[in-house]
Amino acid sequence: MDSVEDILGQAGAAIDAAADTRALDEARVVFLGKKGALTGLLRSLGDLDPAERPQAGALINDAKQQVQSWIDARARQLSAEQLTESLSEETVDVTLPGRRQDQGGLHPVTQVLQRIEDIFVGAGYEVVEGPEIEDDYHNFEALNLPPHHPARAMHDTFYVDDGKVLRTHTSPVQVRVMESGQPPIRVICPGRVYRRDSDITHTPMFHQVEGLVVDEGISFADLKGTVIDFVQRFFEKDLAVRFRASYFPFTEPSAEVDVECVQCRGEGCRTCSQTGWIEVMGCGMVHPNVLSMSGIDPERYSGFAFGFGADRLSMLFYRVDDLRLFFENDVRFLAQFN
Ligand code: PHE
Repeated sequence: MDSVEDILGQAGAAIDAAADTRALDEARVVFLGKKGALTGLLRSLGDLDPAERPQAGALINDAKQQVQSWIDARARQLSAEQLTESLSEETVDVTLPGRRQDQGGLHPVTQVLQRIEDIFVGAGYEVVEGPEIEDDYHNFEALNLPPHHPARAMHDTFYVDDGKVLRTHTSPVQVRVMESGQPPIRVICPGRVYRRDSDITHTPMFHQVEGLVVDEGISFADLKGTVIDFVQRFFEKDLAVRFRASYFPFTEPSAEVDVECVQCRGEGCRTCSQTGWIEVMGCGMVHPNVLSMSGIDPERYSGFAFGFGADRLSMLFYRVDDLRLFFENDVRFLAQFN
């Protein structure tokens, strides 16, 4: 029993002296571990007189509990000391900027396309899309442009292979829509188109929006009304609109549409090359050949179609004077449209 007293004395001293958690754990092993001093005493109980065993056992167990409670207390003390120490050493600079998340935004041309879609959807049109890799038939032939038609040369086509091209305009989507259903048809077809062309007003990829309306009794007056209404809604201004006679193989009669210059309101400036007008789209009455090739009876139905560049409209809408800026992906430019 003397040895229990001795062991308690040694344990108390060792625990007090433990300067960190590792030292404290070593002390625990020495006194309470499997081969520790108090465990050893418990094992040697068998050497005692049976009458003395219960009392001795109780004494040793009390001692074990005592040692464990000293260890726990010392552990709490050590961790409190460590916390105070690290708080005094480390400093938090609350004036540093936080880590913020950068927020993205829609590309200006995407915003303009959505604006255009909203206007036409509000007028009862459906939005449809077609493939960017198109076959020669839909891009040209079904639009009244047979293989050796001279107007094919205007398109600066990218050829893919075996009769496939990167579509040079969104007009092939007109054909696909007419092939797949009967009038009444009222659609717009936004999308990317490709031409071998590059300068401040041309990029090899750009965006067009095609419009097609086919029904009984559709006339050029419907086309004019639609185009004028669209332009004025898009720019939110009562801009003058002018139709100039023109030629497209897939429309007859055909016209090009000029809008009063948004920059100078017709006075003449750099944007409109001093003319006061800006050309924005091609349009016309769908050619009877185009209707019948796609399975629509030209005796019963008539239609109009138009096609315009969404990038050109974006330049005018946001007053950007170099088309290429839209496709360089410079965040300093793009962030201005968020
Ligand atoms: N597809 C023509 C172009 O790209 C535009 C157009 C569309 C003209 C529809 C008339 C009718 O230039």
